[in-house]
Amino acid sequence: MRHLMSPLDLSVEELDRILDLANDIEADPGKYAHACEGKKLATLFYEPSTRTRLSFEAAMLNLGGSVLGFSSADSSSAAKGESVADTIRVISCYADIAAMRHPKEGAPLVAALHSRIPVINAGDGGHQHPTQTLTDLLTIRSLKGRLGNITIGLCGDLKFGRTVHSLINALVRYEGVRFILISPEELRIPDYVREDVLRRSGHEFKEVIRLEEALPELDILYMTRVQKERFFNEEDYVRMKDFYILDKAKMKLAGPDMMVLHPLPRVNEISVEVDADPRAAYFRQAQYGVYVRMALILTLLEVKVC
Ligand code: CP
Repeated sequence: MRHLMSPLDLSVEELDRILDLANDIEADPGKYAHACEGKKLATLFYEPSTRTRLSFEAAMLNLGGSVLGFSSADSSSAAKGESVADTIRVISCYADIAAMRHPKEGAPLVAALHSRIPVINAGDGGHQHPTQTLTDLLTIRSLKGRLGNITIGLCGDLKFGRTVHSLINALVRYEGVRFILISPEELRIPDYVREDVLRRSGHEFKEVIRLEEALPELDILYMTRVQKERFFNEEDYVRMKDFYILDKAKMKLAGPDMMVLHPLPRVNEISVEVDADPRAAYFRQAQYGVYVRMALILTLLEVKVC
């Protein structure tokens, strides 16, 4: 039985197979419409979500399976004090696979240690968000045709943004990836990512504050919102929240093939006027999230479709 806690739980070859499968699902969804008949996915969400929870549910429904779960800690027995370990022991009796989001780093790992079914980390605190990373990799590979030899700018809240931490971990496994880390001083990438992942990998990277400085160099701009829920006080959040706003004027500084990604939800960091720009790929990215979660469910449940 396999769980998915981090993108690094998958080898590069396994990851390529999942992305290939996702592309096949995109090309011929009917082939997979009954692949998971009789199987159930439990979505255990202790934190708010739109895309991750609903795309997991859409993925399982597209595969002919069923879904059950809860969308907040308050609507589960966590509100009465039940532990994650006890919850997953019980859910193992009801479902074949589970996706868990939790505000505490490591909670899905605790669940995996007590589970009889595969557990997928659907985001744990400021730590990791591996299925967003699969989505990001599928989007980049589908739109750019490659995962290596790119310059990617990661912009915004690099301190608390778990999607950025997961994506860096995944991308350092590909040749020729250059990273430009664009953030205010207070929201710089954590030391453990800068030193233990980026510097150790030998990949070229630099940290800058001004988005305008980075834009002309980028193949991919990965925007992120400032993570309000991880701040200790409102005042700091208000000071930081509009530090970056990507608008039409700034897009003029970028190349004609640069793609703009964002894990969403967006707040103010991308002006809606950018949505009509053909380089804005964040809604296509959300669609890729369904295909890749379908591929992941098939892989973890070891369902083969001929
Ligand atoms: N990208 C992402 O995790 O979105 P949700 O918080 O809506 O799931």
